This record gives sequence, C-alpha cells and structure tokens, in this order.
Amino acid sequence: MKQDMIVILDLGSTKNTDVARAIRSLGVYSEIHPHDITAEQLQALPNVRGVIINGGPNHVVDGICIDVNPQIYQLGYPILAVNHKEALAENCVAVLEQWPEEQEAETELLRSFVFDNCHAEANWNMKNFIADQIELVKQQVGDKKVLLALSGGVDSSVVAALLIKAVGAQLTCVHVNHGLMRKGESESVVEVFKNQLNANLIYVDAEERFLSKLAGVADPEKKRKIIGSEFIRVFEEEARKLEGIDFLAQGTIYPDIVESGTKTAKAVKAHHNVGGLPEDLKFELVEPLRQLFKDEVRACGLELGLPDTMVFRQPFPGPGLGVRCLGAITKERLTAVREADAILREEFAKAGLDKKVWQYFTVVPDFKSVGVRDNARCYEYPVILRAVNTIDAMSASIEKVDWDVLLKITDRIMKEVEHVNRVCYDLSPKPNATIEWE
Ligand code: XMP
Repeated sequence: MKQDMIVILDLGSTKNTDVARAIRSLGVYSEIHPHDITAEQLQALPNVRGVIINGGPNHVVDGICIDVNPQIYQLGYPILAVNHKEALAENCVAVLEQWPEEQEAETELLRSFVFDNCHAEANWNMKNFIADQIELVKQQVGDKKVLLALSGGVDSSVVAALLIKAVGAQLTCVHVNHGLMRKGESESVVEVFKNQLNANLIYVDAEERFLSKLAGVADPEKKRKIIGSEFIRVFEEEARKLEGIDFLAQGTIYPDIVESGTKTAKAVKAHHNVGGLPEDLKFELVEPLRQLFKDEVRACGLELGLPDTMVFRQPFPGPGLGVRCLGAITKERLTAVREADAILREEFAKAGLDKKVWQYFTVVPDFKSVGVRDNARCYEYPVILRAVNTIDAMSASIEKVDWDVLLKITDRIMKEVEHVNRVCYDLSPKPNATIEWE
C-alpha cells in the first residue's frame, strides 16, 4: 500500500468531514469509520498511522451514551481524543475537550499529531489512491466477477474506469438507456467505455419500453416511480442473464453515506444507487469511492483519463428528461426538450458559462401557444430555459445570463427545433420554485 492513513472514529461529532478534509489537505489520507469498529477491523485497514476519536453532540443515541471499543486503545496507535470524556487518557497522545476555535490552531494541532506523533508521510495523492484501491479491489474480488450499473454519471463512470484497471475482463457494465438521456450521452458511454477502454459493456436500448410504460402518465411522482422501478427491472433482467456474478460495484461516495444516515447522524434522504434488487439476487458490494468527496471523485476521474465532459458533467436527475418533458411524455416533446437542451449546452459552453453555472437545462410544458410561421398561424410548444446556482440544491438563485447569449439560444431554438414557437427564461429562485419543474 502506498498511502499512510489516519482513521477518524465518528463518535457523534458534526466535524468528521471537516477533520478528514483538513488532514487530507496536509497531504495525508484519512478515512472516517463508525465508532464501534472492532480492533480486528481497525487492524485490517491498510497503513493506519494514527486514530482520532472524534466525540461530539451526537454521542447519545436513543438515550444511550455510545463509546468506542476499549480494545482499540491496546493496538499501539497514537490516539487523539476530542470531546470524549470517557477516553482512556493514559493511552492517548492528547485528550481535548473540543477542537480549537481558530482554524489555524486546529491545523497546527493536526499537523503536529499527524507528523510528530504518528510519523505519517504526506503521500496522499490521486495516483497513490488509485494504486491502493486497485490493490484492495483485487484482494476483495479475487478471480470472481463484478457487475456495475453504468449510468454515465460522474460517480459510476469513475468506478467503471477504476475497476477496468483493477479487474478488467471480470467486470461487466450494464448501461440502460431509458430514452430520457440528454443528446449524445448514451453514445458517449459506449464510445468511452466500450471503444476506448475496452470494457465488457452491455448496452440496453430500453427507450420504447420506458416510453410505453410512461404513455399517458402525467403525475410527476408516478412518472418518477415508473422510471425508477422499470430501471431496476431492466437491470435485474440483465443481471439474471449473466452467470456467476458475486459482486456489485457502486459509485457510492462519502456524502451519500452521510445522507443515508450514519450510526450517529439521522438520514437526510435514501441513497438511490441501485437499491431495491430482489432478495435472491444478493451481491457483495464493491465501493472504492466511498471515502471520497465529489471534487476528489472528479480528480480521480481525470487521473484515470476520463474526458472532461464526463468528469465535469452537471448534476442530472435519475429520471432524466422525463421530468423536463412536463405531464404525459410524448416523443414529439421529448425530442424538442432534448434538441433545445443540446443547443443550450453548446451556447453556454461557447460563452464560458458551462464552467460557471451549477445547473442549466430546458423544459417543454404540455401546452401550446399561438404564433406565426411563414406568414401563417401556428400553434406550438414553448421551450423554457433554466440556469441556476446553488451550494447544496436546497435553495438556488438564477444566473443573470447575458441578453445576447439568451437571444442567440432563442434564435437557434426557433430555427432548429421542431414544434416550438416560443422561448422563455425562468426567473424563479428556489424557494418558491424548485430547480426542476416536476
Ligand atoms: P429540486 O427540483 O428538488 O432539485 O429543486 C434539486 C436537485 O436534485 C435534482 N433532482 C433529482 N435527482 N432524482 C435525482 O437523482 C430525482 O428524482 C430528482 N429530482 C430533482 C435536480 O436536478 C437538482 O439538481
């Protein structure tokens, strides 16, 4: 193993990720683990140089005060205990009541612990991370087979690229094209993974299947449910066709773990990687990115040679264009929303807005308005443009796009997209609007 590691034990602190990031910014890899890790599990982690017991307000769970396994004090690792009254002080390098308030003092404390007490080497970088994960995946998987649902999103793409390096031919990727992808996205998954990286890629063209299930369904939540459950069904069918698969790889990243709830923090939302597979399709999980933050996942993708367009892809909802083609989906409007979206993305890229704006897309509603085309009355759909900025997607403000850019996009949509006679720009912040229209 190439990287030294400091383990943070989550004993109810709200600062676990801050501490992990602070240690990583000193150049030392750091992982967060649950407080009740056993001594054996801790010893099995590669290259542990020191342990931080990170106590905090959430250390009382269901009225019971939780604690770490006392055996971990006997393993000989330098230990720093923070906000942990029960710490066995004689076995610790330092016991603090709380983290220093000043950022600089905290950094200095960590620097001294990590380098002076733990003698860790500053050898955390993406090259070493990838090398270590390749070795760990090889150990876990052996000569068995691994399955991956490759959506083309950043996380699943980076996992695929990493696993191709680690286990190559033992990996099978399944890309389900539900017909609700943006223009060129499924094609780029095939181009990058099948043609360039030589992956075993099963491409499932399920457009007709999804569209027939969605025919006439106008309720947004029903549409979401149908898309989600149909996706699992198609994936399950493909998995059953393959023989002898023991492992399922997932692009779980650290924020997914936090949002799904840890032992000391309540769930924010269900983490929606491929869950919901039937009981008899049991796989062991392979999750090589589970300790990374989003920016680190992107850096990992770049290091693995994935194209910028894939690595810096803007967030895209699982139900895809299905929630941007409002009401009951028709092919006509789905094509309009996809073509208009491609124009928007092209013009944003030309104006340098693709790197600046958090999320931007088009929406086509299910009503028409009157217009004139070639001196005759026409009755066609509007396209709505939306461009928003946000930190956490809980609230969002609109991007004040330059008029000339908006006019150029409008002009192109009018000329190039069929069945459209009007373009509007959505000025609504979240709240009261949401980012998506459905
Ligand atoms: P809203 O519309 O709730 O969106 O303001 C917040 C962020 O979440 C994305 N989004 C989804 N992502 N499945 C997803 O994976 C969904 O059903 C879904 N709905 C919204 C949205 O694109 C925005 O980034």
